[in-house]
Amino acid sequence: MLDAVIDEQVGRRIRIGDHWLFDFASCNYLGFDLDQEIIDVVPEYLAKWGTHPSWSRLLGSPVLYEQIEEKTTELLGSEDTLLLPTITHIHMSVIPVLAGSGTIFLDGRAHKTIYDGAMVARGHGATVRRFRHNDHEHLRELLRASTTTPRVVALDGVNSMTGNAPDVHEFARLAREYDALLYLDDAHGFGVVGERGPDELCPYGKRGNGIVRHQGAAYDNVVLVAGFSKSYSSLLSFLALPTRLKNVLKVAAPPYLYSGPSPIASLATTLAGLEVNDTRGDRYRFDIYRQTKRVLDRLHELDIYTPNQSGYPLIEIPLANHEDIDPVGRYLFDRGIYVTMAAYPLVPKEEVGFRVQVTAANEDDQIERLCDVLGEINERFELQHEQHHELLLQARAARG
Ligand SMILES: Cc1ncc(COP(=O)(O)O)c(C=O)c1O
Repeated sequence: MLDAVIDEQVGRRIRIGDHWLFDFASCNYLGFDLDQEIIDVVPEYLAKWGTHPSWSRLLGSPVLYEQIEEKTTELLGSEDTLLLPTITHIHMSVIPVLAGSGTIFLDGRAHKTIYDGAMVARGHGATVRRFRHNDHEHLRELLRASTTTPRVVALDGVNSMTGNAPDVHEFARLAREYDALLYLDDAHGFGVVGERGPDELCPYGKRGNGIVRHQGAAYDNVVLVAGFSKSYSSLLSFLALPTRLKNVLKVAAPPYLYSGPSPIASLATTLAGLEVNDTRGDRYRFDIYRQTKRVLDRLHELDIYTPNQSGYPLIEIPLANHEDIDPVGRYLFDRGIYVTMAAYPLVPKEEVGFRVQVTAANEDDQIERLCDVLGEINERFELQHEQHHELLLQARAARG
């Protein structure tokens, strides 16, 4: 299930050769890739704007950018937003600008693209310090010992492997205390989690406006990065940031100056997606919540360990023996379950396994099949159980 060629797609079913599978590897969380109302708007935008603007954003941006930035700023409740094609472009170009010749404090499990952005910054003279994943105390020690400015603390919002989120209040508080900027990549939280309220349909909250709003935190000293390429199924990403910083990035971040922009179809589906999010988004978030809960309950019933403690729709299932990855992958494939495989050396041996993502477009019978197959895998192969996981952690601690 790596590097596969998908021959056909019908809903969340995909065909590879003559084999049909249920797709649990999609990050199109809200199912907007399949939404007819969104699909239908594309031709009118193409008729008006052509397929692709080709100007870099500095040379000229179709007014659609202004419209999306305005709507996104309103949705997030941030001071401003800046759109660029992908999150990878943002990390590579913005982290070096923010860090200058100061220090980046990087979470031990930060997404590879944040890490790569930090490495580019290092090439430009910044120092990089890594703190243990989600460990405030370790971060505090490093911040206290640091003498250079500016300081940037960089980590994921909803983590792409564990499915859990950091305590944004605590990290933002620390950042403020040590005059640092908190730089959060919420690729997986935006669209899924949002502000809380008494009329929310589920614990994911409302409006999908991301992890900062979900936890009721403020944007002071915080730059939130996220994208439309997951929940909104469109090639576009953004930073939520103060206007002053936006103006700096417009001349200092190379993708704004030089990169080809998002295709018109993606700008169109983002705008339509923002409308649909307003009208139907919370219902979809409820569906994701309900289906994810069903899978997590099943894992619990089978005593299968997953790091997911949040209930968000990324569920990693590590194996007890990393050598089993090939037969487990083959078994899932044969039973028609398509997932993301996490093989060594992409992840450490004790984390080798597979990851399931649940989207609003996965239907009940697909979830039931997944639950059945998890039971079969549990009988045929060794997965990690709570107790087993504890032993692994102890062994890792003993190894130092
Ligand atoms: C946390 C995180 N950040 C960044 C990216 C890359 O996003 P983009 O495709 O917009 O560059 C991903 C994609 O998997 C991701 O999971």
